[in-house]
Amino acid sequence: MSTIRVETPVIADLGKLFKAHGLSKKSVVLFDEHTRKLFGDSILKQLQEEGFQFKELVVPAREASKSFGVAFRLYGSMIEADVDRSWNMLVVGGGVVGDLGGFIAASYFRGIPVIQLPTTLLAMTDSSIGGKVAINHPLGKNLIGFFHSPELVLIDPSYLATLPQREIYSGMAEVVKYGFIADEQLFSFFERHFRDITRLKEPYLTEAVKRSAFIKDDVVKKDFRETDGLRATLNFGHTFAHGLEKLAEYRYLRHGEAVTIGMVCALFLSHNLGFLNQESLDRGLALLRKFLFPKGVLNRRFLAIEGTMLLESMFSDKKKQNKQLRFVLLNKIGEAFLLDENVDDQQAINAIADAQKLFSQELMR
Ligand SMILES: NC(=O)c1ccc[n+]([C@@H]2O[C@H](COP(=O)([O-])OP(=O)(O)OC[C@H]3O[C@@H](n4cnc5c(N)ncnc54)[C@H](O)[C@@H]3O)[C@@H](O)[C@H]2O)c1
Ligand SMILES: [Zn+2]
Repeated sequence: MSTIRVETPVIADLGKLFKAHGLSKKSVVLFDEHTRKLFGDSILKQLQEEGFQFKELVVPAREASKSFGVAFRLYGSMIEADVDRSWNMLVVGGGVVGDLGGFIAASYFRGIPVIQLPTTLLAMTDSSIGGKVAINHPLGKNLIGFFHSPELVLIDPSYLATLPQREIYSGMAEVVKYGFIADEQLFSFFERHFRDITRLKEPYLTEAVKRSAFIKDDVVKKDFRETDGLRATLNFGHTFAHGLEKLAEYRYLRHGEAVTIGMVCALFLSHNLGFLNQESLDRGLALLRKFLFPKGVLNRRFLAIEGTMLLESMFSDKKKQNKQLRFVLLNKIGEAFLLDENVDDQQAINAIADAQKLFSQELMR
């Protein structure tokens, strides 16, 4: 299982750290174009000073890089550079390169170690942890992949200083999710410090990142292959979100934006089915309101969606089993569960309508 280190600067003494974890000082370093430009020089300089041998790889900064074609090209560069099983892969960037680099590491020479150095809030608190790595197939997202745990996850929240606001809010959706599903105390920390965190104020930012990362790690350790429903609770809001993302053709909505809307729907569903009381519903919605619900186009898009259309899109979600949608619901703030029984279509549609009502009120404000 992986070791997670949260520190600024996290790359100090990298050589010693690698050695302590049985990793060689031979690294393929994978960036996307943005992270290469922003952090490449300083990271590669550090590796050089510590006596590393390294091979640099750069891919375009877009979801389409998580493809077999790109992976295949990178395998070629690695073979040409004589990269063998004694090497490891250090990935610097968001979830896109994290998933791609993890996929390559899991398959290259039957598997080499991967070290994640996440640079988006989403990657620091979610995608770099837990060992799910994948590329996309034209027929669906994340369909081809492995469980390949990173040897190390190196988190340095100061890397977020250059991250656009939209990406911060997108990552914040997953951060807030951990409060909802697992930790009421953390939830109230978010209620008090939401703005401090999204403005990257310390010590709140590091505290939020650390606690989120460790909740994810803890859940994954207890249910690595998602067999007993615990890991599935990480998908709170995601059944709705995946349907929305699909409708938005994975282009107009960031994942976290879809998750924010999805969590609103999931809160209403939890309440309407009698699991979540009114007070907790109101508390949950109040926190999600702080997300400055995507205004304008995105918001109108969501309002224009027919509940039945969204439901249909949700049914094509890969997490369906026996054609039944699986929903993660809340009993209370800080306690989620995977509902085993079928949810009546009308209930899901009602929850979507409740969320739309809330959004249209927000638009009027
Ligand atoms: N494996 C998992 O468990 C898991 C979980 C959730 C999401 N994911 C995957 O993660 C991907 C999304 O990840 P993401 O949201 O990090 O997107 P991303 O990797 O596309 O990064 C978002 C953008 O921010 C840029 N960027 C990265 N760090 C930056 C920084 N510090 N400053 C400025 N710009 C920076 C990137 O170049 C990119 O343009 C999706 O492909 C999703 O499927 C995987
Ligand atoms: Zn997510």
